[in-house]
Amino acid sequence: MLDFTTHPLSAPMSAEDRTAAMATLGFGTLFTDHMVTIRYTEGQGWHDAVLGPRQPIPLDPAAAVLHYAQEIFEGLKAYRLPDGSVASFRPEANATRFNESATRLAMPHLPEDLFVESIRKLVAADVDWVPDADKGSLYLRPFMFATEAFLGVRPAKEYIFCVIASPVGGYFKSGKSAVTLWVSHDYVRAVPGGTGAAKCGGNYAASLQPQSVGIEHGCDQVLFLDAVERKWVEELGGMNVMFVFGDGTIITPPLNGSILPGVTRDSLRTVAGEAGYTVKEQPYSFDQWMEDAKSGKLREAFACGTAAVITPIGEVRSARGDFVIGNGDGGEVARTLREALVGIQLGRKPDTHGWMTRL
Ligand code: COI
Repeated sequence: MLDFTTHPLSAPMSAEDRTAAMATLGFGTLFTDHMVTIRYTEGQGWHDAVLGPRQPIPLDPAAAVLHYAQEIFEGLKAYRLPDGSVASFRPEANATRFNESATRLAMPHLPEDLFVESIRKLVAADVDWVPDADKGSLYLRPFMFATEAFLGVRPAKEYIFCVIASPVGGYFKSGKSAVTLWVSHDYVRAVPGGTGAAKCGGNYAASLQPQSVGIEHGCDQVLFLDAVERKWVEELGGMNVMFVFGDGTIITPPLNGSILPGVTRDSLRTVAGEAGYTVKEQPYSFDQWMEDAKSGKLREAFACGTAAVITPIGEVRSARGDFVIGNGDGGEVARTLREALVGIQLGRKPDTHGWMTRL
């Protein structure tokens, strides 16, 4: 394991200013004092691990990330537990997925213990920024990008891995109990054989224009269909999706290579199974979805992800028709599963799967 060098803050934020800044938490607009950076050079490996002040990173204008988008990231959270300590949820799963994304983007792997240690170092330095459990959590954003100054199209030879942190509340600012989705029938997010299963910035860049169309139609998030038949539900711009039926079955689209393998998605399959639901990974078409919602066979649908946690979907709009799900306000299953998952994350329910890592 690399040794970290610590660079002190020249002007840490006062406790009073921090408390004021954290009084109302949104998503991803407020940042903590520190960051971790680790450099990679081909032939030398990972080096220069630093815990230092959060500050701009100088980049050569020819840095490969600025031209060919060699960039990957993760999202995970640290939670304040009832005894005041701090833990994160399945950071090893994020470390594994980070390296899977790295493989797809032809980037170097980061040892998983170094990924987790970076999070430990950052959270230890910024522990005062972890919100109280009833206010929110500390969102951690590890990412890696190509820094080599080179305009040829090939994998770069130099990278920076970085972790920043942001105290957050809910992801959706509407404050509604359920969100409205825009189904994109024209634009797709990912194609078979593409980068859809990797957590790379490019996938999110591709979602922005369709997301803007959704916003123009009064929606909170865009939902993408498959790229080949334009028929099968895949995922939202930034989260996975699940459907709840009257017979206690929950369906989520199978991981087909163009869907992000969400850690929340995976955990919910276990949590829902334990709560007595049958979770199936099964293709689900837009037409069937509309029919099931209109007939009442579909009781609920929800978005799931680290940022979204579990967010009920109340209404769906699209160029091929609009429909409401259940009473349009979310339902009992989403509430039950959210309570079960968040209960584990906040240390209020037993962690029977060893998912929580004390930081
Ligand atoms: C996450 O849930 O961590 C994500 O990366 C999704 C993004 C919309 C914030």
